[in-house]
Amino acid sequence: DLVDLEAQFEATIARSDRIEPRDWMPDAYRKTLVRQVAQHAHSEIIGMQPEGAWITRAPSLRRKAILLAKVQDEAGHGLYLYSAAETLGVSRQELTELLVEGRQKYSSIFNYPTLSYADVGTIGWLVDGAAICNQVPLCRTSYGPYGRAMIRICKEESFHQRQGYELLSTMMRGTDEQRAMVQESVDRFWWPALMMFGPPDADSPNTAQSMAWGVKRNTNDDLRQRFVDMSVPQAEALGVTFPDPALRWNAERGHHDFGEPDWDEFVQVVRGNGPCNTQRLAHRRRAHEDGAWVREAATAFADRRRPAGAE
Ligand code: 3HC
Repeated sequence: DLVDLEAQFEATIARSDRIEPRDWMPDAYRKTLVRQVAQHAHSEIIGMQPEGAWITRAPSLRRKAILLAKVQDEAGHGLYLYSAAETLGVSRQELTELLVEGRQKYSSIFNYPTLSYADVGTIGWLVDGAAICNQVPLCRTSYGPYGRAMIRICKEESFHQRQGYELLSTMMRGTDEQRAMVQESVDRFWWPALMMFGPPDADSPNTAQSMAWGVKRNTNDDLRQRFVDMSVPQAEALGVTFPDPALRWNAERGHHDFGEPDWDEFVQVVRGNGPCNTQRLAHRRRAHEDGAWVREAATAFADRRRPAGAE
């Protein structure tokens, strides 16, 4: 009965085991997983747009091939995650409609423009770097399909981060103009990258419950701190600085102190008032509409192959 089912669920969570699609789960657990996995999937798909705009402008065939591979990877990450969401009983069609209608979220970072080619490197280094900080713990998330999708995604994400860092280090060994382009790009993306980890724990309505259910293994502030500590030595090796006068090593804490992101800006971007929100959703809506004929053809083909009368 229900008491036993709840007890089984709690025991599975308590021993950090996986909850699988056929297991009983509280409606609220299912709901918060649909919310997070869908947003994660939407982020991967929307995230193709900012750097995708530079595929036709890459400075060499090598850079174009690497960028093409990375953007295609993001599409694949979106599909793994939509498939994980489908095991919770929501269809990809439904989730896509919620996205284009602005009723589900995607990561704030993709609402910032990519104004120079150095942004392609900065996104790889900092945005995919932040995603790695956030996604490695998610490999141990309590919902089976989500955690397993993360394992594959994290392997590909490390290639994304390395290619971005390598692109920037190449530019840093180039001309003064290239060095200036890299620094200008880092100045634009540093604070929005910190906002990827979500609001401060004190303003995070989902963190406590997500930690209790093992959906999250670390809080927003923990992962943000881990990302800052990881990025500072990389910036030094690159020869760039971060636009934060409060950023310094704190030997007592064993971590870097850093300034406060602009949380008013964060709220506005999440609300839909960021620099690129409108164009990102319009692009996604247009791509969905342009792809309707492919879905119709695939469905018609599948129907034709199905024996008459079969479901
Ligand atoms: N952008 C947009 N919305 C955000 C956000 C951000 N950076 N950070 C938080 N929010 C939203 C939350 O979704 C929540 O709104 P909701 O209740 O309507 O969903 C609200 O702000 C309050 O935030 P909480 O901290 O309470 O929410 P969570 O507990 O869900 O924590 C999170 C936010 C850390 C982003 C968590 O949802 C998470 O880990 N998500 C999965 C990972 C993810 O989405 N990473 C970013 C994707 S980037 C990427 O993967 C592409 C890469 O390949 C480049």
